[in-house]
Amino acid sequence: MALYVLGDTHLSFRSEKPMDVFGGAWVGYVDKLRSGLSVLREEDTLVLAGDISWGMSLEEAREDFAFLDAFPGRKLILKGNHDYWWTTANKTYQFWAENGFTTLNLLHNNCYFYGEYALCGTRGWFLDEEKNGHNQKVFQRELIRLEASLKAAGERPKLAFHHYPPLYRGYRCQEIIDLLERYGVSACYYGHLHGGSHRLAIEGRDGALDYRLISADFLGFRPLKICES
Ligand SMILES: [Fe+2]
Ligand SMILES: [Fe+2]
Repeated sequence: MALYVLGDTHLSFRSEKPMDVFGGAWVGYVDKLRSGLSVLREEDTLVLAGDISWGMSLEEAREDFAFLDAFPGRKLILKGNHDYWWTTANKTYQFWAENGFTTLNLLHNNCYFYGEYALCGTRGWFLDEEKNGHNQKVFQRELIRLEASLKAAGERPKLAFHHYPPLYRGYRCQEIIDLLERYGVSACYYGHLHGGSHRLAIEGRDGALDYRLISADFLGFRPLKICES
């Protein structure tokens, strides 16, 4: 039984925005993902940390969900800034059920357990959101979501997953970091950063937490194994 994390699969079976056009590491990325995800076994858990699919609707993302669902193990899906298919949890679960997708779950206002750990998370907050006009209401909602997820974890040791990095060279979302520290989270995994932005990522210890960048192109399209039992 193992716990894995991977961000930014950016699948595009239907919506014709394959990431191969970006060149570099993205050339042949679907085959790389297929190979990287082949490590998964039935009893494993994989956190998919946002930017899952370019689909603009559940329907448009169907093949991308099918690709992910076909691998064994439980998948926990966080929202990324490009997940335009995202809708209510009810509609999503209904769509997945209708299509026979049985391994997909939303990590949103909730948490999941893996062994002794509680897996918490939200999309998070980043520079991009600030540029789009810092919307205090949306930001507050994000903090409420994160706290709901952390509260749901109770006294268990907690790991946090975000799409956006809570810290970055030149940026620090202190409100999110404060919440993570207050609830005793030991590690934070985040995606969103691609290509040249990798060098601006902050990894390792900062304050009470360990930070790791887990976007797919950074990890060579292989999920990062967090622990195994
Ligand atoms: Fe991304
Ligand atoms: Fe992103």
